Amino acid sequence: MADKKVTIVDLQRKKEAGEAITMLTAYDYPTGVLVDRADIDIILVGDSLAMVVLGYENTVCVTMDEMLHHCRAVARGAKKPLLVGDMPFMSYQVDAREAIQNAGRFLKEGSMDVVKLEGGRDMAPTVKAIVDAGIPVMGHIGLTPQSISKLGGYRVQGKDVATAKALIDDALALEEAGAFSLILEAIPSPVAEIISDRVSIPTIGIGAGPHCDGQVLVIHDLIGLFDRFVPRFVKKYADIFPTIIEALNEYRQDVIGRSFPGPEHSYPMGAEALEALLAELDGES
Ligand code: KIV
Repeated sequence: MADKKVTIVDLQRKKEAGEAITMLTAYDYPTGVLVDRADIDIILVGDSLAMVVLGYENTVCVTMDEMLHHCRAVARGAKKPLLVGDMPFMSYQVDAREAIQNAGRFLKEGSMDVVKLEGGRDMAPTVKAIVDAGIPVMGHIGLTPQSISKLGGYRVQGKDVATAKALIDDALALEEAGAFSLILEAIPSPVAEIISDRVSIPTIGIGAGPHCDGQVLVIHDLIGLFDRFVPRFVKKYADIFPTIIEALNEYRQDVIGRSFPGPEHSYPMGAEALEALLAELDGES
């Protein structure tokens, strides 16, 4: 899929062929360009931007307008991946009409291809309403950060029979409602495996083990650009936070020591022009 735009049909074909689907978050033009260049299948403009980009305590406070602002920037940089806009808290919970309107804004104003929203059986009618309006929806079950107060913290979900069974029912209800794919977040690997076997749509795991049809990570976690905490399920492929601080410290030292800017960073002026300028200034004083 190197040069062509990824579609939901491509993702379904990958599941059926047993090919792993790759997905990362991106939040702005540079991360959009980087993820596109790495040939990742799906970009999620996640509401995690509330924490990793905007510095909020959690994802609950991010607004539709903030999300759309970041979606547009990502879309300017990323041309090939399928672009998923993450519907923020309270943009789809009130009623189906508002949910459809806000989902539509992600496509019309945010240049996204599809939307994602959190919730299981409770959200299935909303998913159906958005899909019926012509907008593909990715579901998100397990640890759903927008319900952090209800869940009582960032905890693994579905560890006992009743909660695992509820997750399986959620997944089946979302598939039935027309979701084209499901995010499974922070659930035991065997539960994710059962769900991935039982639904015919692709599952994308984050902290859900190796048996999902694809994997997603928050790009700031993967490259080490978020220093508040690192969840157990994250693999850090780079650690750029200390690298950036080192570069900034070096810059500070160079400025203080007057070794930056050097001649190679400065614009010269012809000797004749300079002489003439000085002479003119001399004449004025
Ligand atoms: O907002 C986000 O980044 C997400 C991922 C964790 C799936 O929802």
